[in-house]
Amino acid sequence: MRLGAFTRQEPVIAALPTARCRVISVTISSSVRVLLTCACVSLFGAWGMVAAQAPKEPETVVLTGSPLGGVKFAHKAHARDYAANKCETCHHASKPEKPLKAQQEKCTDCHTKVAAAPMKTKTQAAFHDPMAKKGLCVDCHQQAIAKGKKAPAKCADCHKKENV
Ligand code: HEC
Ligand code: HEC
Ligand code: HEC
Ligand code: HEC
Repeated sequence: MRLGAFTRQEPVIAALPTARCRVISVTISSSVRVLLTCACVSLFGAWGMVAAQAPKEPETVVLTGSPLGGVKFAHKAHARDYAANKCETCHHASKPEKPLKAQQEKCTDCHTKVAAAPMKTKTQAAFHDPMAKKGLCVDCHQQAIAKGKKAPAKCADCHKKENV
């Protein structure tokens, strides 16, 4: 609509160079104002949503679900020290098959006991393979053990009935 109005004015403005300048500057500044207003609204809108959704980074995490017992680990030490503040080591980036609703959404929101399409990775596989020889929670522990640290490797080192 604005383009149409502009075209219609063109011949008149061409005859009056100074007026043309004014018209253009008004057009630009009013559309810039509209753009800025939109940018502000979406910026604060999005910020409000993230702030409302983002839970606090936990000190300790207890994951339940396995019949072997729950798994409790020091989240803060893992996030800050072992993974060197790289949250993405465990909280992967959003994937197109099922995009994230929040930056560090609960794994089990998407990785369920039995994977249902479009998901392929079930709960267990999100953390380790069936024999716990490989996987997110195991690879780094094997590396730590190789360096002489004491990190859990056996089923019962992680899964404990008392972790509820
Ligand atoms: C060693 C793996 C690991 C690292 C590294 C890690 N997290 Fe987590 N985090 C988890 C797991 C596992 C959960 C529990 C998810 C669940 O309940 O399904 C969790 C839970 C959370 C939650 C709570 C989510 C909710 O809705 O309850 C927040 C917030 C969070 N992490 C933030 C962070 C931030 C910020 C970092 C980086 C500074 C980070 N995490 C690094 C594994 C990790
Ligand atoms: C919003 C949904 C969603 C959340 C939350 C989520 N994932 Fe995923 N994840 C996916 C999708 C989609 C894939 C790719 C398809 C598949 O493998 O099922 C995937 C794949 C994976 C894979 C397979 C390897 C790879 O990268 O393709 C692992 C391991 C994994 N996720 C671990 C986790 C862990 C651990 C958490 C929590 C800290 C988590 N995911 C949270 C959606 C999610
Ligand atoms: C980036 C490396 C890394 C990843 C990924 C990782 N860990 Fe660890 N974890 C360690 C190290 C290193 C230790 C031993 C620290 C020490 O005592 O020196 C450890 C210790 C532990 C311990 C015993 C001490 C504690 O924190 O309670 C548990 C339980 C544990 N990890 C669970 C997990 C689980 C569950 C996952 C997957 C969600 C995981 N870890 C992923 C590095 C990692
Ligand atoms: C480094 C810690 C760690 C070790 C070692 C480990 N697990 Fe796990 N396992 C987890 C975490 C974390 C989960 C996700 C939480 C849950 O589902 O209980 C999980 C999930 C599972 C699940 C899926 C439960 C469900 O909710 O669907 C099974 C089954 C399982 N583990 C069996 C084993 C077996 C068997 C071993 C030994 C061969 C083992 N785990 C060793 C951390 C570990």
